[in-house]
Amino acid sequence: MKKILFAASECVPFIKTGGLADVVGSLPKYFDKNEYDVRVIMPKYLCIKEELRNKMNYINHFYTDFYWRNQYVGILEMEYEGIHFYFIDSEFYFSGPWPYSNMRDDIEKFSFFSKAVLSALPIIGFRPDIIHCHDWQTGLIPVYLNDSFQGNPFFHGIKTIFTIHNLKFQGVWDIQTIRNITGLSDYYFTNDKLEAYQNGNLLKGGLVYADKITTVSKSYAEEIQTQFYGENLDGLLRAKSNNLLGILNGIDYNFYNPKTDEDIDYTYDTDNVFQAKRRNKLALQKKLGLNCDENAFMIGIVSRLTGQKGFDLVECVMEQICSEDVQLVILGTGESRFEELFSYYARKYPNRVSANIYYSESLSHQIYAGSDAFLMPSLFEPCGLSQLMSLRYGTLPIVRETGGLRDTVIPYNEYTGEGTGYSFANYNAHEMLHIINYAKETYFNHRDAWNKMVLRAMKQDFSWSSSAKEYEKLYDSLTEVK
Ligand code: ADP
Ligand code: GLC
Repeated sequence: MKKILFAASECVPFIKTGGLADVVGSLPKYFDKNEYDVRVIMPKYLCIKEELRNKMNYINHFYTDFYWRNQYVGILEMEYEGIHFYFIDSEFYFSGPWPYSNMRDDIEKFSFFSKAVLSALPIIGFRPDIIHCHDWQTGLIPVYLNDSFQGNPFFHGIKTIFTIHNLKFQGVWDIQTIRNITGLSDYYFTNDKLEAYQNGNLLKGGLVYADKITTVSKSYAEEIQTQFYGENLDGLLRAKSNNLLGILNGIDYNFYNPKTDEDIDYTYDTDNVFQAKRRNKLALQKKLGLNCDENAFMIGIVSRLTGQKGFDLVECVMEQICSEDVQLVILGTGESRFEELFSYYARKYPNRVSANIYYSESLSHQIYAGSDAFLMPSLFEPCGLSQLMSLRYGTLPIVRETGGLRDTVIPYNEYTGEGTGYSFANYNAHEMLHIINYAKETYFNHRDAWNKMVLRAMKQDFSWSSSAKEYEKLYDSLTEVK
């Protein structure tokens, strides 16, 4: 039995701010249980719902010197849907209203977490063959493992994988501060290790010290080796290209299932999709105070409202997008500039624009189910899960051809009758508008072609089944006795 430990800063159902949580919470369920014992370790945030926190069982605690303080480290555990979870408890670090705060404090918080994860392992008695680290928050795990923990035979031979979910976030601060916080010696702060452009960089530590690097789509694995997408680390990623692999994300097909989804008004599959989607659209219009019109072309957006997601393109042509036959439903939070943009248009066109500036799992499902199209014009997109959820619910994605969007949405071709959505190549507002109008035109004037595309979209398989196999192969390659 191979033992794998996922380490991450967020994970469903405990805490979620984006797709990372979906991946860390769902992928472990899809490994062959006879061969892989995959467990997850994450912080025990006070902002995790009380109902879930109450189900965690205390295992043990210890004290550790970290930064200039002596810190309590509690370890808890819980079994959830067949997966074993561990939680690192520290009231000092994990009591905020949200998992993240400012970068300086987050660097301290997650450096602490990374060290605590390794220190906790001998105590819980789970010795992983591989620690699978996710994003910059866990970048120091491979570094610490190479450093002070090498003195203890328990850690000998543990391998590490570092998965990049988003290269934009790297955990960067000045070297002096990071050195003081982490307790790592000067040796680590050179440009072949944690130093990058005169600063300390936790993600870079993960990339340099992990045995393998993966990212969440094949296209993004290529893109991050170029200057445009490389976020200043493209040189390093090119140098590491033999050790870098793109494995496409999946989504939890049991959880995101229009046939059984309890959050939507009318459940459906390919047999009754058209009628059910019309009803779901009407229910959503009623709920959000939009015109109740089953013939309106409804475009959904469920997203973090940040520059990554391409909303400055939407801003340029918002007036044109909001034409009379379109309804736009937005669910998201983020940069105030985009929150205000959408709120402004919701006030201007209350019958056809609905801006929901908050987080709601259930409303997100209602939007995936009730919309006709889903807009995701990202500047970059490592994988993207929202477009996969849309496909699953028969809502056609309109995306920019980048990263995982390019790998998962097949553009409509009216001549061959292929396609599962719409895409455009250049980061250009008018190109996007043109493609939105093209989608609208198919919807209104070639409903038969549209409906066939809906069925094709729903029949795509972006469950974890094939990607989990690729991870299994990767785990095998790292644990083979040479
Ligand atoms: P990212 O991880 O970059 O934010 P993904 O597409 O990979 O983008 O994943 C986003 C996830 O977060 C999806 O599950 C999406 O439904 C969800 N999500 C984003 N914003 C909200 C929101 N305001 N309410 C509910 N779910 C949201
Ligand atoms: C990141 C990326 C997103 C990806 C998610 C899960 O948040 O922005 O594209 O789907 O991680 O890997």
